[in-house]
Amino acid sequence: MYKLHRRRDLMTFRGCIAAVVLSAGFASAALAHSGATGVVKQRMETMKSMGDTMKQLGAMMQGKQAFDAAIVAGRTSVMKQHAAELPKMFPKGSTQHPSEALPKIWESFEAFSKITSELESTSSALGDVKSADALPVAMTAVGKTCKACHQDYRKP
Ligand code: HEC
Repeated sequence: MYKLHRRRDLMTFRGCIAAVVLSAGFASAALAHSGATGVVKQRMETMKSMGDTMKQLGAMMQGKQAFDAAIVAGRTSVMKQHAAELPKMFPKGSTQHPSEALPKIWESFEAFSKITSELESTSSALGDVKSADALPVAMTAVGKTCKACHQDYRKP
């Protein structure tokens, strides 16, 4: 009996966290902006891939997909790599249509790059997760990092 309750509480908890993490705005962003070219297109595709990773791991967190530590490690290692490459994908003034990047990126490029480093470390920690129970905390940390950057540097 006790076990059953615990399990249900845990599922509810995971569901809530998933809602928070996925509401960061990337869950529905499947529509990569058509018409984008060059570096804008490249970074949109990179962001999209990171969004897909969060969606897949979100499904694991909600119990919709079986937990698989190898998938978690594999996908997050790609995400970490992407995070490291992000600063290069924002050359000065690259706001050409249909980019949603804000000029503030280049007014405070150091702070912007610092968030990409944070994404490297939160992705790394997520990659070390070895059980479904540990996913919510690690996912939330990553989700917060995505959100922190979008809030300040991406058109709402
Ligand atoms: C350091 C800042 C930063 C971080 C960290 C960041 N993003 Fe972004 N993201 C941006 C900016 C800026 C844009 C707008 C890019 C553009 O339109 O040129 C964007 C756009 C997006 C888009 C829309 C892409 C499109 O096709 O228009 C998605 C999806 C996205 N980010 C997902 C994520 C996810 C998921 C994470 C975390 C795992 C993340 N982002 C982390 C800055 C960031």
